[in-house]
Amino acid sequence: MNFDEYSDSYFKLLEEQEKTFKFFAPDRYFFVKYKIDLLKKILSDYPKKILDYGSGVGLALPYFLENFPKSKIFASDISTNSLSVVSKNYSKVEVIRDEELTKKHFDLIYCSGVFHHIMPPKRGKVLRKLYKCLNRDGLICIFEHNPFNPITRRMVSTCEFDKGAELLSLSNLKKLMNINSFGVIKSNYTLFFPKIFSKLNFIEHYFGWCPLGGQYYVLAKKKE
Ligand SMILES: C[S@@+](CC[C@H](N)C(=O)[O-])C[C@H]1O[C@@H](n2cnc3c(N)ncnc32)[C@H](O)[C@@H]1O
Repeated sequence: MNFDEYSDSYFKLLEEQEKTFKFFAPDRYFFVKYKIDLLKKILSDYPKKILDYGSGVGLALPYFLENFPKSKIFASDISTNSLSVVSKNYSKVEVIRDEELTKKHFDLIYCSGVFHHIMPPKRGKVLRKLYKCLNRDGLICIFEHNPFNPITRRMVSTCEFDKGAELLSLSNLKKLMNINSFGVIKSNYTLFFPKIFSKLNFIEHYFGWCPLGGQYYVLAKKKE
């Protein structure tokens, strides 16, 4: 899937999704805000340099700027049109073209909703590239859709820019990260409650083992 075609229409397509799944995601920033809040809770150190890998048009960037004011924020994507939107909207974010990525090093790589767009034979190569970009004690946090959740599967199957995407399970992502020299620190299923029940989020971590959450995350670092 080439996201260059969607850099102008991305927000409009999200709006259409929002209408259909209003109960679960009343606004486009619900999921992304949720993930940055979660990330803040699970990190023990304050990362100096944060890369949003596969940033798209930059949905997560305002939350990174707001929640990590002392960090330098970087964005990268294979879609150059999406990166142009990022440059236009977020002057404080440094945009890095995919080819330039391995020249840089980061303390935290955040990657959300990207791996299901990378075809399985290419996923290992992308992980090896991200490995090279991570500082020695750096962390990578990958968020993905949970293929065992029927609502997630329905959202993906009706989303125009998810055509051709292949969901990957939490256990497969962990295996792949392990093979590619990442040591998993923590992983959990997440996003169990729609926004109207978000007051219940404080009990979510009790269900992290349960493969019914809408998404999941894997937090990892380089193996010693
Ligand atoms: C569904 S969008 C997610 C965008 C953003 N992370 C978010 O949460 O809104 C998927 C993005 O992954 C990017 N992408 C797909 N394959 C990639 C790859 N191999 N390297 C970097 N970005 C990639 C696409 O260009 C697209 O912008």
